[in-house]
Amino acid sequence: MSAGGEAVRTRRVPVETSQGAYEVTIGRGLTFRLGAMIRERFGAPRIGVISDSTVAALYRERLSASLADAGLDVRFFDFPAGEAQKTFETVGAALDFLARERFTRSDIVLAFGGGVPGDLAGFAAAVYLRGVRFLQVPTTLLAAVDSSVGGKTGVDLPQGKNLAGAFWQPSAVYCDPDLLRTLPDDRIAEGYAEMIKHGMIADEAYLRRLEALVPCAEMEEMIARSVEIKASFVAADTRDTGLRQILNFGHTFGHAIEKVSDYSVSHGAAVAIGMMMACRAADRLGLSESSVTARLEALLRLYRLPTETAYGAEELAGAALSDKKRSGETIQFVFPIRAGAAALVPVPAADIPRVFRSGFR
Ligand code: NAD
Ligand code: GLY
Repeated sequence: MSAGGEAVRTRRVPVETSQGAYEVTIGRGLTFRLGAMIRERFGAPRIGVISDSTVAALYRERLSASLADAGLDVRFFDFPAGEAQKTFETVGAALDFLARERFTRSDIVLAFGGGVPGDLAGFAAAVYLRGVRFLQVPTTLLAAVDSSVGGKTGVDLPQGKNLAGAFWQPSAVYCDPDLLRTLPDDRIAEGYAEMIKHGMIADEAYLRRLEALVPCAEMEEMIARSVEIKASFVAADTRDTGLRQILNFGHTFGHAIEKVSDYSVSHGAAVAIGMMMACRAADRLGLSESSVTARLEALLRLYRLPTETAYGAEELAGAALSDKKRSGETIQFVFPIRAGAAALVPVPAADIPRVFRSGFR
């Protein structure tokens, strides 16, 4: 039942991975029934909720009531909101919490929040007692369509973002779009950047629906389609050794922008600009249909996402070349072929400055 007592209509998206299968359940008002859903699916484990301060202040009461109503024993741990907290120190504090509260192998960690609590709680679950089950309950659009699915968990190091972690799949993902209502517009736009990415790499019809502007009533369906697209890449290549890297469309350019800006440019904004740069470069290198660039630009503007960077090509290329995650002497770029299809192209280090230059207008 929702707060008003009516039944919650849900959509379910299956996710198959080489580490096991699970479902993403999406439904407005689902948080009010979450305790009952967990009870039905997992029995009565103890639940350790890991969240950030903002999400806890907004929604802890709602979640807590739902879990308590189902008779579940729940403990809460939260840390100050923000990317700066995605560190080993915070994971250490979360592990300390789980141990202090005597969580066992049969208990469950519940990641409640955006990508930061999701990545961090997932990592804590991956290493606590050498691995306990965890659930993702995303509260940002970015987490709903991207980070809560696929099992990439981890933390940042002083040397760079997401440099330590583990592949550890959630046992289930529960997404309540009603929780997204309190997100500021720029955070919503960051989620749309990832949805546009999904359309660009895999589904032209989805792109057309985004171009028609998503009415509120269709949000669940749009989240479900994005999750399906992400899940198809995760199923094909869970450990990210090949095809899954297509999900990094816009990310090589985007990561360089994030890094050079000392992370003052948000991930979503950087990916939006990065996708534009990838389109321009692919067009100039003769890899894609030239209409793709104008189409993407119009769509990003529609969702109030940026399309240009003030940083220079040489500076950005330098940041990409010093990226610890590049493999050997090449960097994998994702270039569009046409709207709805993209390809991985390894670019030798010596050509990186030229590719970055061709990403500018
Ligand atoms: P986030 O979790 O920091 O959330 C952004 C801000 O929104 C925070 O201040 C948070 O407190 C606030 N917030 C969350 N839910 C809210 C709500 N419902 N109402 C109001 N405010 C709310 O960050 P994010 O943007 O969700 O995710 C970014 C992180 O995700 C990065 O660390 C990135 O590396 C990671 N990521 C991981 C994957 C993956 O596959 N694991 C994929 C993409 C991004
Ligand atoms: N966000 C990219 C991935 O999960 O592979």
